[in-house]
Amino acid sequence: MKALAIVDKFGLENLQWIERDRPEPGPNEVLVRMKAASLNHRDLEVIGGQRKLALPLIPASDAAGVVVAVGRGVESLAVGDRVMPIFVQGWLAGPQPPGDALATLGGPLDGVLVEFGSWPELGLVRVPDGLSDVEAATLPCAGVSAWNALFVCASLRPGDTVLIQGTGGVSLFALQFAKLAGARVIVTSSSDQKLDRARAMGADHGINYRHEPEWGRAARAIAGTGVDCVVEVGGSGSLEQSLIAVKNGGHVSYVGALSGTKPTFDLGELSRKSVQLRGVRVGNRESFETMCRAISLHALKPVIDAVFDFGDAIGALQRLQSGGHFGKICVSFG
Ligand SMILES: NC(=O)c1ccc[n+]([C@@H]2O[C@H](COP(=O)([O-])OP(=O)(O)OC[C@H]3O[C@@H](n4cnc5c(N)ncnc54)[C@H](OP(=O)(O)O)[C@@H]3O)[C@@H](O)[C@H]2O)c1
Repeated sequence: MKALAIVDKFGLENLQWIERDRPEPGPNEVLVRMKAASLNHRDLEVIGGQRKLALPLIPASDAAGVVVAVGRGVESLAVGDRVMPIFVQGWLAGPQPPGDALATLGGPLDGVLVEFGSWPELGLVRVPDGLSDVEAATLPCAGVSAWNALFVCASLRPGDTVLIQGTGGVSLFALQFAKLAGARVIVTSSSDQKLDRARAMGADHGINYRHEPEWGRAARAIAGTGVDCVVEVGGSGSLEQSLIAVKNGGHVSYVGALSGTKPTFDLGELSRKSVQLRGVRVGNRESFETMCRAISLHALKPVIDAVFDFGDAIGALQRLQSGGHFGKICVSFG
């Protein structure tokens, strides 16, 4: 089978197409033929060598496929079922498992830019009704992270105001889920055109963070006494604005750090405002299944920016790196 791999040198320019033997499903394992994959910002960090992972490694974590064989003892899945691998293999329910190195796909475990993958039966979740393979492939990391940021790490309620940063994968899922839950949503973006598209999806307010560097104050003013919840993906500099935007006793779900991980804010702000700052590490299988039920019930469709053929997966990664995307960049295996 064909795979795209980081063989011996990090960097997008050093990715190589390789051949691997197709895996055999062991006891309680399921062999999946990949139908589609989607990319996350994390994949660029892994490929760029920012995560210090052992090589060789097949990158990317999010995919959907069809079961083509099952190992001894598999009971809940059968040939022909449509499935998605969970991001943190082995994290089925409850809080994050102990230890620093979680078994996450696309590093340290091999990822999904490969034609077949074999995973434990419980490492897979069924595709929600009504989603195509490409749409389903967007869910395991980006979808579950947004779901957890709003409903598990925070407790979003109808009528709350949520601040969402940028128009990438996690953020647009957060916009869709927050609207589904009856919240008011403020979106920031570097682009007025992207803000228009976010409003067309239901965003109530848009702030261009390039034109409005003090966007935290602007968001706070919109919400009156501050927003109830922030889905933080900016990190350095951005978190400072988020702490201005959030209300006393409000919640910041810290998902990512697109502009760096070094804080620039006065730590006193956290206690002065009794802010609840909570890190998000994607989420467990139980959250994934809960999210899938909501997606089916509300016929929610993930936002797809572009679909590339598997053979042009490097082109897909380049599009992600360009930052021009709105929503998810996907790969189809045909
Ligand atoms: N902790 C976890 O479990 C977890 C899970 C998933 C993702 N993440 C992290 O979350 C972040 C977002 O991931 P993603 O896959 O959604 O990324 P993505 O799809 O590449 O989205 C990036 C978008 O964010 C906006 N952006 C860029 N720099 C920004 C900044 N400094 N401040 C605010 N917005 C900015 C841009 O939108 P505009 O063009 O509209 O400005 C950009 O298109 C990454 O840091 C990723 O590693 C963490």
